[in-house]
Amino acid sequence: MTAKRRIKIFDTTLRDGEQTPGVALTAEKKLEIAHALSDLGVDIIEAGFPINSEIEFLAVKRISKEVDTTVCGLARALKPDIDRCVEADVQLVHTFISTSPQHLKYQMGKSEDEIYKIAVEAVEYVVDHGLPCLFSPMDATRSELNFLIKVCKGVEEAGASIINIPDTVGVMIPSSMRELMKKIREEIKIDLDVHCHNDFGMAVANTLAAVEAGCNQVQVTVNGIGERAGNADLEQVVMALKILYGIETNINTEKIYPTSKLVERLTGIRIMPNFPIVGDNAFAHESGIHVHAVLKKAETFEPIKPEMVGARRRLVLGKHVGVHGIDAKLKELGIEVNPEQLKEITTKVKDLGGKGKRVVEEDLVAIAEDVIGMVPKEERKVELVDLVLNSRLSKKPIASVILRVDGKEKKATEEGVGPVDAALNAIRSAIGEEKISLEEYHLDAITGGSDALADVTIRVSKGENVILARGVHEDVVMASVIAFINGLNRILKIA
Ligand code: KIV
Ligand code: ZN
Repeated sequence: MTAKRRIKIFDTTLRDGEQTPGVALTAEKKLEIAHALSDLGVDIIEAGFPINSEIEFLAVKRISKEVDTTVCGLARALKPDIDRCVEADVQLVHTFISTSPQHLKYQMGKSEDEIYKIAVEAVEYVVDHGLPCLFSPMDATRSELNFLIKVCKGVEEAGASIINIPDTVGVMIPSSMRELMKKIREEIKIDLDVHCHNDFGMAVANTLAAVEAGCNQVQVTVNGIGERAGNADLEQVVMALKILYGIETNINTEKIYPTSKLVERLTGIRIMPNFPIVGDNAFAHESGIHVHAVLKKAETFEPIKPEMVGARRRLVLGKHVGVHGIDAKLKELGIEVNPEQLKEITTKVKDLGGKGKRVVEEDLVAIAEDVIGMVPKEERKVELVDLVLNSRLSKKPIASVILRVDGKEKKATEEGVGPVDAALNAIRSAIGEEKISLEEYHLDAITGGSDALADVTIRVSKGENVILARGVHEDVVMASVIAFINGLNRILKIA
């Protein structure tokens, strides 16, 4: 049996990732992320750009001292930058200089010969300090091939340990990346690395193409953060290598999701719900057909098990939900229901979903408790047929109700101090049961927002008998009416 190929993960969340517009991490936050990356199992952590500021220098130095993974510092191909990396005690120096005609002309104002000399001398300077050197010809993918290879050969001879090929402005496609990497691989013996930006959404695909062509290290960031549209995403690259290519990394995949959440929280960069592997919807199933199948056999609609990346499967309760999804969710929540109650809960959730409301766990618990507390349909004495509310400026609101009481229609119209009071007065009047009184009324909003479900609990009494009843609806008046009618049915049954 041949051993599986293994790719090294170079994480640049704390360097290129921190260059994400709007992100500035304190030393404490950088350290927390660095520890998480180390636990995750990345091979190299690029901790920052020490020459950038004293704060950055101190953060990199602290990470180098405290974190048990190879720590790398970034340096332009300039002696003061490299000195700062050495002073920060990094174990690897990443030095770079541009090699593309655009950068030479407009950014550097230097000739190819000058660039070649600076690159080689920078690598020699790092090596002279007894440190391994990673060299990047910046904007490699827009560089003239012969010059790019000349520089790569020069730095290899100068003692570089790894050469990184950056697709600085993300202009490659997988076939061009494969071709370029193959040509470089034929000329260069030391390890090859790749650093892809996501300007056209190609960063992950280009990174994988580079691996196909013989690259043995990849530069990635957690959640794909980085300059402009970001870098190749660690989670996607690692899982694609493992599942689609059968290539191993040192990553403990179960820590992927918690690490992603940590970086999301500390950087403030929210990931899209449909983001692969770690997005909120990556393992969420809503459609009844999918939920039913996934509950039988997860592989039907899941290419990987959520536990593999430390995530959880979510059965989303919306308009597409089916009885099986609700049943599974209720079981998970430890709520037992009979088939009729299950049907009623499902109808309520689907109705809410149809109105665009996403029912979360807390909503489901309230709906289930409401339904469980209801008198079975065939035993209900009172049913609501219709309710009309009339709110009037500077006058008391009026409510008109039509009820079916013991199979007969009853109507009443009443005023109240507010719409809820008017509706409950009208119901009481239509029933004609004067001895029934509302002892207590309590309203909760289950989840935040103006479309939160209203959860009403009431205490109804008739003579000696007192019962509690509940009603859940997206409208406060309706939740109150449902609670009152639930209460009436129960009290009339026992009284
Ligand atoms: O995108 C880029 O070229 C870089 C280099 C410093 C490697 O981030
Ligand atoms: Zn970059």
